[in-house]
Amino acid sequence: MQLNPNFPAVDPIPLPAPIWLLKLLHIVTLSLHFVAVEMLLGGLLLAVVLSICSRSTNCWVVARSLAKRLTVVMTYVINLGVPPLLFAQVLYGRALYTSTVLIGLYWISIIVILTFTYWMLYKFSARLEAGKSAWWVGLIAWLCCGFIARLLSTNMTLMLRPEVWRDMYSASGAGVYLPNGDPTLTPRWLLMLAGGLFIGGLWMVYLSGRTTFSAGEKSFLAGVGGKVAAVFGLIYLAAGLWAASVQPDVVKTGLQSHPLYKFAGFAGYGWLALVAVAILAAALAGFGKIVAGWLSWAAVLLAVLLEIMFTVYRDGVRDLTLLSKGYDVWDRVVVTNWSVVGLFLALFVAGLGVVAWLVSVVARAQKPMEGAA
Ligand code: HEM
Repeated sequence: MQLNPNFPAVDPIPLPAPIWLLKLLHIVTLSLHFVAVEMLLGGLLLAVVLSICSRSTNCWVVARSLAKRLTVVMTYVINLGVPPLLFAQVLYGRALYTSTVLIGLYWISIIVILTFTYWMLYKFSARLEAGKSAWWVGLIAWLCCGFIARLLSTNMTLMLRPEVWRDMYSASGAGVYLPNGDPTLTPRWLLMLAGGLFIGGLWMVYLSGRTTFSAGEKSFLAGVGGKVAAVFGLIYLAAGLWAASVQPDVVKTGLQSHPLYKFAGFAGYGWLALVAVAILAAALAGFGKIVAGWLSWAAVLLAVLLEIMFTVYRDGVRDLTLLSKGYDVWDRVVVTNWSVVGLFLALFVAGLGVVAWLVSVVARAQKPMEGAA
């Protein structure tokens, strides 16, 4: 396949680590970013709806607890977004830098919107703590998150369309226009939004197993979270099939014939099976009114695994789309600097160990009951 002439020339500096390693790290960190993003998108909307209940009900206590946790979730969204951005730039720089520059004004605005959203999340939580009406503050924060998600989907799909870059640049070199005419953009964005309520519901099922909630709050969390996850799991499934069906034929054929993507994706069983099992687990909690530690941990495990499957499949969509335009991500000169790679991996593992230790310290700390004012 001839390389589309709109791709800039390749950087003469070789890659400092094997491509498989960069891709592995990219997929691991991006999957974790997606778990956090979905918790934010779904958990926030659920907290907004629940915060409309009257004070001192289980519903309101849960809204307050979700809101408090969302300020922490946001730190994970941001910190787990940085590593995949770096890996994506190393692997797909010629495509990603170009699309980023073409929507430059919007891309830069993410920093401002993100900072404002973070502030609104704290306001939302503080107003709920003070017993004040807060749904509108949370709703503004959610709309901002949805807009950021839209801009990210826009960039990640524009980077796959070198054929429109030249016209966009001729229209504006300042990045003031957003692209149009891409049938994959909206299904992809809606898939992430539906996934938010699905993962948000599973998050509530997880919380139903935590000891800081009273028995009444736990059964409320399992009941509402389970029902939301079961219903939005089905919508997520439908959105996934829609997003896959609008891919170009060459990409669909490539996905079906590639062993890894076939296993991971919609055409195979990985993602479908995990979503189906997660829907069943959620239905058990929601409609079967089951509150149990094993169910709560099953919800976490399923959420992480299905995001990994989704990320692998999504990676396949990108690689095959770019390949159909002559860009082969595996076709790069690599000169591995093993001492740097070794140091990086040692620090990476040590960092994960420190995070696990921090999480265990927080989990073991004495906490007041959530419902206590
Ligand atoms: C409220 C904040 C955020 C939301 C709602 C959000 C949402 C999303 C969504 C929906 C996608 C998938 C887009 C698609 O492929 O269709 C995405 C991808 C991504 N996000 Fe975030 N994000 C947020 C913040 C961040 C931040 C702060 C960073 C980096 C510092 C980041 C880095 C990334 C990267 C690198 C990708 C895609 C990587 C790739 O495809 O290789 N995100 N994000």
